[in-house]
Amino acid sequence: MSALAGRRIVLGVCGGIAAYKAIEVCRRLVDDGAHVVPVMTESATRFVGQVTFSALASEPVRTSLWDEDDPIPHTHLGQSADLVLVAPATARLLASLVSGYSHDLLTNTLLATRAPVVVCPAMHTEMWEHPAVRANVDTLRSRGVVVVDPETGRLAGGDVGAGRLASPERIVAAVEGVLGPGTKDLAGLRVLVTAGGTREPIDPVRFLGNRSSGRQGHALADEAAARGAEVTLVTTTGLPVGPEVRVVGVTTADEMHQAVVEHADRADVVVMAAAVADFTPVAPAASKLKKADGVPLVELRPTVDILAELGRDRREGRTVVGFAAETDDVEQHARSKIESKGADLLVVNDVSAAGVGFEHETNEVRILDRSGGVRHVPLTSKSKVAAAVLDAVVEIRTGGRLEQVG
Ligand code: CTP
Repeated sequence: MSALAGRRIVLGVCGGIAAYKAIEVCRRLVDDGAHVVPVMTESATRFVGQVTFSALASEPVRTSLWDEDDPIPHTHLGQSADLVLVAPATARLLASLVSGYSHDLLTNTLLATRAPVVVCPAMHTEMWEHPAVRANVDTLRSRGVVVVDPETGRLAGGDVGAGRLASPERIVAAVEGVLGPGTKDLAGLRVLVTAGGTREPIDPVRFLGNRSSGRQGHALADEAAARGAEVTLVTTTGLPVGPEVRVVGVTTADEMHQAVVEHADRADVVVMAAAVADFTPVAPAASKLKKADGVPLVELRPTVDILAELGRDRREGRTVVGFAAETDDVEQHARSKIESKGADLLVVNDVSAAGVGFEHETNEVRILDRSGGVRHVPLTSKSKVAAAVLDAVVEIRTGGRLEQVG
């Protein structure tokens, strides 16, 4: 499996004639299993169409700090990235990064990330050789930014010289070099992950639902795949996930139960990250309930507690991980839940805290094991929480007990 499988890469594209080559870079990264989020500068959109990137990348292209659905896209992009790649990078982008001048989504994202940054400059020879640009490149290198030098060749306008964007092969190799071969500590294991909130129909247009976005479960599936596992994801959402993850789409708690029963037999690890409804309407109406008929009485019945069912059927060699969203006495509720559900690990988040759980890009959790061990994972991206959960899985499968790290 590629070092890029499941890795989240923000691909920044600046305005330069080489912007068309970023399309090939994008395609190769996606083919290698990376989750690519394209960010174009305003000038880049003059060179290549946004539709092209949206069609090839893992998510639609982003161009603006002013996103109606996401008021702080740069922090979300920066925090959740495993790597930020800029190809092509203009002289202006290099200067902005050196001076911390954030004037658009890409420059803001570059300042808001702690992930490694790879820049691939492309410009005319005179510009590339200008002392200001040379100094900026040196400064960036001294700060740990990986600069993929441009090549010598034919430039826009027929000139020949240094400044042509590095080849897509070199750019992808540089990214792989930074992200490394990755740990494959889940190789040979089959991991089943559930994600998202279930929807329980009341009538053909209405449902009982919850606020789970599914992001944490999808991040777990991607991370498990990146670490070499064979992954099945049972999800209620259409969120993107790496190509090597097998996706089973479901809607209701009953469908999720059925899908888990079907796939859990073969699984070495089951992670119940989904928010499964505890109750479902006994008899959803076949046609839309009309207001004129008065306030409906919707009778509910309990659903199967999938996690508890897995916990009762404790199988040799199978690790079961539950999630819990709590608002008070978090650790105490979690302790009794790990017992009542028979899980090996319980990941609990305090959904009343800022930036945690539902509808956020970030999460803060405590991971509990059955022997009283607990590990706190401070507020971080959902992919880092996913990595911490899978670290804990590996530790208890090898006979360890959870202790605080870091
Ligand atoms: N879960 C499940 N099946 C259900 C309900 C929940 O498998 N029908 C799983 C969730 O996927 C999660 C864990 O149980 O891993 C905890 O869910 P939570 O709703 O916090 O627990 P409940 O038992 O419903 O307790 P509470 O009374 O706090 O809602």
